[in-house]
Amino acid sequence: MHSQVYPVLASRPVSWARLSDSVRPYGSPCILGLDEVTLLEADLPEEQRGESAEPLGQGQALSQGCTAGFAGPLLTETHAEGVAHRGPARVRDRPQVPPDRVEIEGRRDRLNERGDVPFIHRAYSVRPEEATVQSRIGASFGEVDTPALAIDLDAFERNLRRMAEFARKAGVALRPHAKAHKSPVIARKQIELGAVGITCSKLGEAEAMVDGGVTDILISSQVVGAAKIARLVALARHARIAVVVDDAQNARDISAAAHRIGATVTVLVEVDVGQRRCGVTPGEAAADLAATVHGLPGLTFGGLQGYEGHLQQMIPARERKTLCDAAMERLGASRRAVEARGIPVAVATTAGTGTCEFAAHHEGVTEIQPGSYIFMDANYVRVEGTPYETALTVWATVLSRQRAGDAICDAGWKALSVDSGPAVVRGREDLTYSPAGDEYGRISTTGAALLPGAGERVPLTPSHCDTTVNLYDRFVGVRGIVVEAVWPISGRGRTD
Ligand SMILES: Cc1ncc(COP(=O)(O)O)c(C=O)c1O
Repeated sequence: MHSQVYPVLASRPVSWARLSDSVRPYGSPCILGLDEVTLLEADLPEEQRGESAEPLGQGQALSQGCTAGFAGPLLTETHAEGVAHRGPARVRDRPQVPPDRVEIEGRRDRLNERGDVPFIHRAYSVRPEEATVQSRIGASFGEVDTPALAIDLDAFERNLRRMAEFARKAGVALRPHAKAHKSPVIARKQIELGAVGITCSKLGEAEAMVDGGVTDILISSQVVGAAKIARLVALARHARIAVVVDDAQNARDISAAAHRIGATVTVLVEVDVGQRRCGVTPGEAAADLAATVHGLPGLTFGGLQGYEGHLQQMIPARERKTLCDAAMERLGASRRAVEARGIPVAVATTAGTGTCEFAAHHEGVTEIQPGSYIFMDANYVRVEGTPYETALTVWATVLSRQRAGDAICDAGWKALSVDSGPAVVRGREDLTYSPAGDEYGRISTTGAALLPGAGERVPLTPSHCDTTVNLYDRFVGVRGIVVEAVWPISGRGRTD
């Protein structure tokens, strides 16, 4: 499988283009900000080239995938049986809005409806308002409008390296949970630093990751029902996909669907190590289900998952360790029970940011799947013994200062999740934040602390990174005060 990212830096004047659904099969047509772009389109048959765009300039026309509205100087590249054509193309409709920068993600492994033509699978597009953010790259972050979800790149990169180093030293595989970021760009950074792949909670998130070039994914929750199972096995033809089960019929359903299309899905048996959510009882029940999975066509028995989610943010650390040890003993007992049936357990995966330090040292644990360590939300930084730094901030602007004692800002329920309590005003313990409506937040002071004035920007540390990230289309990566990157959160909202 081949997949690659083609960064496209615009030079002026910029122009835009619209890609059809044949290029972006999962989404509505999108507007791309393009000026100079290299698209790779593999092995397009002669008769399909340039159907929609007039062949202008010295290069070939754009392929049918890129239908209406391409404009401006546009560079395309078509590879057919080793022959590369390259040249400028011009197309109708000269339009307006100038996005400045766009990332196009090309994949050559997807087939079109006829099943014979590799297509560019997906393009990350910029809508005009996103382009405004893109165009701030290189500028001061103060120019980016609010509410904005910003990553402190220095702290974030330290977190990435620290966890990679920890796993390496502990001798366990690292499979970070992407539910914290939902971004293939970040997933690929984790993999570059040594992660064996990533974990996703939902099938939809996994699809977004595969679209974004991630090729090894564990789905850590059950995929149930014919429609989802069809998507699961389809995805397994494009990446190495593992999924957890805790029910024999669910395993049989996945097996039948995989077998039908000739796919292979790796299946891990989930064991309830104390969270009382999903997972079979530790020990013999895990071995029974493992034996069922082991014998089913289209499935590879991959091992066990036992996640102690209820312990992650437990303070103090000593109590967390004691309970984590007990949870790992349940996972270990399950492992021994499976192995006693002559079935090898390749993977025993577990742990989050709060427990990986303890779990990783347990005999029989092969893999850890922490997620929040990259950002460390306001609740997580309070957890004793987690050596990671806060790297995620929602920036808000004060809209109104009509009453003494509070300032009203532009970040409410739509900008900050509240499932884990209110956000925290960063660096200002004398101020509190509380939501004041869908689009409003209240910054309050109990004493004589100085409140920010109308128009001033306020940094807020989200109480829960996973659910706050889910509210945004993009991260703004900031180094010092300069905007360095804008990364799409393509798995956001993919709770399907
Ligand atoms: C199955 C599973 N593994 C790992 C994690 C990552 O945990 P954390 O974000 O606490 O690091 C989660 C988070 O909810 C999870 O559900």
